[in-house]
Amino acid sequence: MSANKESDGGWKNFLWNSEKKEFLGRTGCSWFKILLFYVIFYGCLAGIFIGTIQAMLLTLSNYKPTYQDRVAPPGLSHTPLSDKSEIAFNMSDNSTYKKYVESVKKFLGQYADDLQKDSMKYEDCGDTPQTYKERSLPEGDTTRRKACRFHRSWLGSCSGDSDPTYGFKGGKPCLIVKLNRIVNFRPRSPSNNESIPEALIGKSLANLIPIHCKNKRQEDEGKIGEIKYFGLGEGFPLQYYPYYGKLLHPDYLQPLVAIQFTNLTMNQDMRIECKVYGANIDYSEKDRYQGRFDVKITITS
Ligand SMILES: *[C@@H]1O[C@H](CO)[C@@H](O)[C@H](O)[C@H]1NC(C)=O
Ligand SMILES: *[C@@H]1O[C@H](CO)[C@@H](O)[C@H](O)[C@H]1NC(C)=O
Ligand SMILES: *[C@@H]1O[C@H](CO)[C@@H](O)[C@H](O)[C@H]1NC(C)=O
Ligand SMILES: *[C@@H]1O[C@H](CO)[C@@H](O)[C@H](O)[C@H]1NC(C)=O
Repeated sequence: MSANKESDGGWKNFLWNSEKKEFLGRTGCSWFKILLFYVIFYGCLAGIFIGTIQAMLLTLSNYKPTYQDRVAPPGLSHTPLSDKSEIAFNMSDNSTYKKYVESVKKFLGQYADDLQKDSMKYEDCGDTPQTYKERSLPEGDTTRRKACRFHRSWLGSCSGDSDPTYGFKGGKPCLIVKLNRIVNFRPRSPSNNESIPEALIGKSLANLIPIHCKNKRQEDEGKIGEIKYFGLGEGFPLQYYPYYGKLLHPDYLQPLVAIQFTNLTMNQDMRIECKVYGANIDYSEKDRYQGRFDVKITITS
């Protein structure tokens, strides 16, 4: 008992020693000095931190990237995008492709004509591929640049107008493809016939970044069937470039290409690879989405 009392007393004494007027073993003056030291110490640290960040920010412009290590090449992305790049559905069972239809519908919702009416924000840039639409203004001019309209109807039977299931119901699924935005990037058309697939030779590729899909695996040869391409010139037309960045070009719309597989072999999985072709577009072993993508499609009925 007594030992207990003693240790109790010792603990209380440590908390507040009324004889020496010490709290947790230190006097008020000592505590105050410690506190003051830490306030000043951390204040200086914070000051140095904020100061360097501010100095760094002063060198950056809101309007164009100061450091751009990824000028080219852009990524190629598609909708519907699914787990493990696999699209599998039963064309007789609408619940199996509902999620794909909904993601395409949501994505194309951003391209509704209603949203592109404002002539202060949008303009027509022609319905055939044309050269770059320069919108550069004197350095420092921050006027918003207009964006080119992109009409969903250009996507033909993948536009959703005639078929609200984007081909899924009939086993002819559509993929909507876009090139990811890169500020101030000017993609260039293919410069020679050697670098493009045979199927594209002889087509008009002026002012266009063409896209082409084929079987990725040798054993799928002949199973893919016909592939239709929709969009301006069936590719990415150059008048939509360059993109001036989020602040100067807030209403910008990327041009789209719709790819429809109209005669896929049923009940088989097929790996299909799509690539865009251009003089300054190349591919990387490390990045599966740089200038290309591949997708596995399985349709049952
Ligand atoms: C596809 O859906 C139909 C209708 O629901 C069903 O009869 C058929 O068995 C399904 N096929 C497969 C492979 O699941
Ligand atoms: C699927 O099809 C059935 C029968 O045709 C229909 O009643 C149902 O509303 C459809 N569901 C969806 C999500 O479209
Ligand atoms: C590619 O071939 C087509 C037809 O053979 C020709 O008209 C075109 O000029 C060629 N293009 C280039 C860049 O060589
Ligand atoms: C679809 O492909 C099959 C062979 O895979 C072929 O016999 C048939 O003619 C093709 N249909 C169309 C409309 O191209």
